[in-house]
Amino acid sequence: MTYAVPLEMGPLDIGSEFHWDPAALTAGGGDWLPAGGELFATGCGALTALLRHLRLRGRLHIPSYFCMGVAEALSAEIPIAWYRHLPDEGGPRWATLRARPGDLVLAQNLFGRDHGEPWNDWIAAHPAVTVVEDHSHDPLSTWARSSRAPFAVASLRKTLPVPDGGLLWSPRGHQVPRPAGGESEGAHLKLAGMLLKAAWLDGRPVAKDDFRALQQRGEHTLLGDAGPASAFTAAVLPLLDAAGLRRQGIDNARALAAEVPVEAGPFRAQLVCADQNRRDALLRRLAAHGIYAPVHWRQDRGGVWSGDDEAADLAARMLTVPVDHRCSAADVRRIAAVLLAAPETAAPEPAGAGAARPAPRPAPAA
Ligand SMILES: Cc1ncc(COP(=O)(O)O)c(C=O)c1O
Repeated sequence: MTYAVPLEMGPLDIGSEFHWDPAALTAGGGDWLPAGGELFATGCGALTALLRHLRLRGRLHIPSYFCMGVAEALSAEIPIAWYRHLPDEGGPRWATLRARPGDLVLAQNLFGRDHGEPWNDWIAAHPAVTVVEDHSHDPLSTWARSSRAPFAVASLRKTLPVPDGGLLWSPRGHQVPRPAGGESEGAHLKLAGMLLKAAWLDGRPVAKDDFRALQQRGEHTLLGDAGPASAFTAAVLPLLDAAGLRRQGIDNARALAAEVPVEAGPFRAQLVCADQNRRDALLRRLAAHGIYAPVHWRQDRGGVWSGDDEAADLAARMLTVPVDHRCSAADVRRIAAVLLAAPETAAPEPAGAGAARPAPRPAPAA
């Protein structure tokens, strides 16, 4: 039997959803999975289940640079407040975190560049506040693996090639809720999309629109699901070479940062443009070259947003360069060449000031 080669295949896509690659299975990488953890379909679902389990009457404090969709979903469970945490090197601005006994705080390792020690100090000084750490951007970081928080969560499909998965654990050994109900149909749709994308990358006659449609329907169906992770994800997770994938992603991000003014890894690389128009133009330019860059995360002042102008301003100017474990050295060079040729890439700060170092402005009200 012969198969048609896909029409007009140019250079293959960089970024976008993961495909399924059995080479990631080395059967040697499960030691990072926390004992006593529960595997939900999504990170948001795991957080929702935790809030319902704890039934605290206080507020949930959320970082001002965060996924607004998740914040909105959580606001349906509990009143929320914001504290300033920007993608710079300043960490959480403690003076803006006005948590009271009985409140919860969502602490995040933003792009994998934060450290646990300041949070450990804060937790020790505020024993009546429940801190939940979000390790979605680097579930294998030293901080995640040695966490001392009451609870921690990580959305796994952001960094690992699995269709779903939201890990919830208690480093302190508290009881965590279990996922309720059945697996999400969304995970099955996403897995179908991953398998078809792998075939497409392999030159098989698969229409890109078909696996894109499966990915999108799958993501839509999966959104916020608090049920269990799929059997597929549960089975492959302990077999994945998660540490090797992490290392490859960090190496690639650093290689890119040696060429282009981006802030590198552990979670891919971030680039700040001078303004939103230039950022959006750069997203289009990258897409025209088959490089699909997401934005972490848009903040629409007309909808749910942090009230932190500086966070919203950065959200409008930043993009994530999709340099992860999948990239070859040639892919990294291709991304660098496109970025260097783009007028929008020019860093807004003086040379050497770093990619994401905004000028100070007033902090948000709690
Ligand atoms: C930092 C962070 N935490 C948690 C979540 C929620 O994860 P999930 O998409 O698995 O619900 C997201 C989703 O975008 C996220 O970006």
